[in-house]
Amino acid sequence: MKTWWKEAVGYQIYPRTFYDANGDGIGDLKGITLKLDYLKALGVDLLWIGPFFKSPMDDNGYDVSDYYAVDPIFGTLDDARELIQEAHQRGLRIILDLVLNHTSDEHPWFIEARRNQESEEHSYYIWKKGRINAQGQRIPPTNWSSFFSDSAWCYNEATDEYYMKIFSEKMPDLNWAEPKLRERMMEVARFWLDEGVDGFRVDAVAHLAKDLRFEDSTMPLDAQGNAPDWSKFSNLPALFDYLDELKDQVLRHYDIVTVGEVGGGASPDMALNYADAQTGAFNMVFTFDHCWANGISAGTVSFPEQVKTDVIALKKTFAAWYDGLHERAWLPVYWLNHDHPRVVSQYGDPVHYHKPSAKMLCNTLYLMYGTPFMYNGEEIGMTNVDYTELPDFQDVWVKNLYEGVKDQYPLAVLMDHFRRTSRDNARTPMQWSAAPNAGFSTQTPVSKVNGNYRAINVEAQDQDPDSILNHYRAVLKLRKSAEYKPVFIEGEFALLDEDHPDVFAYRRVNSGKTIFVVSNFTGKDTEYTIPARHVRCLLSSYPDSHPQPPKLILRPFESVVLDVLE
Ligand code: NOJ
Repeated sequence: MKTWWKEAVGYQIYPRTFYDANGDGIGDLKGITLKLDYLKALGVDLLWIGPFFKSPMDDNGYDVSDYYAVDPIFGTLDDARELIQEAHQRGLRIILDLVLNHTSDEHPWFIEARRNQESEEHSYYIWKKGRINAQGQRIPPTNWSSFFSDSAWCYNEATDEYYMKIFSEKMPDLNWAEPKLRERMMEVARFWLDEGVDGFRVDAVAHLAKDLRFEDSTMPLDAQGNAPDWSKFSNLPALFDYLDELKDQVLRHYDIVTVGEVGGGASPDMALNYADAQTGAFNMVFTFDHCWANGISAGTVSFPEQVKTDVIALKKTFAAWYDGLHERAWLPVYWLNHDHPRVVSQYGDPVHYHKPSAKMLCNTLYLMYGTPFMYNGEEIGMTNVDYTELPDFQDVWVKNLYEGVKDQYPLAVLMDHFRRTSRDNARTPMQWSAAPNAGFSTQTPVSKVNGNYRAINVEAQDQDPDSILNHYRAVLKLRKSAEYKPVFIEGEFALLDEDHPDVFAYRRVNSGKTIFVVSNFTGKDTEYTIPARHVRCLLSSYPDSHPQPPKLILRPFESVVLDVLE
């Protein structure tokens, strides 16, 4: 089996806010094509493009109403073909978001299904009768919560049934127990592979199978009165039969890479069921565990003092995934995606140490074991939003949570929570320059630009040798250089001093080469002793690092990459 993807560096593009080529305030496929040279020069080579299929955009495209058409806001099918072709000409590969768990409620299947109980389409979705409570009111079939802070069910008047929807009510879940539905979805996958894409990031794949006993959860109810019991529809046995079928009928016939999104519910052991190199359906899976290591969760209202950087938990999470997987499966590593806050705002200090902390995070992640995935804007150190008005937040999850808890918390508390945790943090327009609208568009953008774009943008960093952007370029160049590639791709990974509360340090070893990556995750000077005396400093988050091992005096967010010479 070809494993080109082990050497690849991924880059996730959120189409809506990446680059607007046609001046309507919304990013588009032509905009991505125009930026391919930028991406090539950055050093990435595997582009994950978020969903651009026809959609009412309730969840920014994850609610698909036609898998075979490009939404007009993003362009046309020909634009998609041009993008694939232009990317391939530059040696860049493209993977698409394959949304298998649900469609939009505006998909023709669902329109028919909700109208006609006798239709084939009705069997494509999950339906249950409601219950009547002690007060004589109609209530959903179970007390399960959706992921978006409301019930997992929605009532359908025409058939007097509830349909299941574990995300928004405009995203009815597909019934994977139905073979005809599975065949429909395999046709979708084949269509895009035949168009030349190089694989998929498979959305929400852990949830394709549901607990068909449909019993109430005994878990405590949340602020909205529902039980956030993900075990009712996560990682259930039938799912792996569906995935085997998908692999057998479609995936194994192409030279592609597949990355399943398995979220926070799956342990490394469970991940092997998806990505074991011999038996798994996918090449690797995304976990959320490290994203949640500091207690940030968008769905539960939190206060700033509850959230602190826990470096020990963070590094142990990465190590647990490496330990659990590397002998039997490959793995991706990443800091954030479109569902998580900006990493420099979580683990760095954008106010006092923007540059060194963003570069420190870059060293730490991109030299680890696994295929790294960058999220657009990370390479210039984009930060969480500075929004002051509630309507600036657009995410359906923010809206649902706000409706559920607005009477329990002052607005200021909720705004603070959203600024730290919401998915909108990662979805602001890409900051290309200091021009109006951050150079993203000539029109007012579909989501509000971050006010710091005049200081933080691609144009300002492009020619500055000391910029975050040029640091990312240098790290990727090192990772791919003939001399260091073997150690960074295949070399063993081991934490050093795993209980150190401030320093994230690890070693990579491969056939005679030993590299230490040592990162100070705090805003204070920190001493750290490494088990080596003679080293060459390959990269640092400061322009003037002169490490004198064994004892290193690390400045705030200082991170050094050391080639051990003895
Ligand atoms: C995971 C995606 O990353 C997220 O953005 C989306 O809301 C859900 N799946 C539902 O498709």
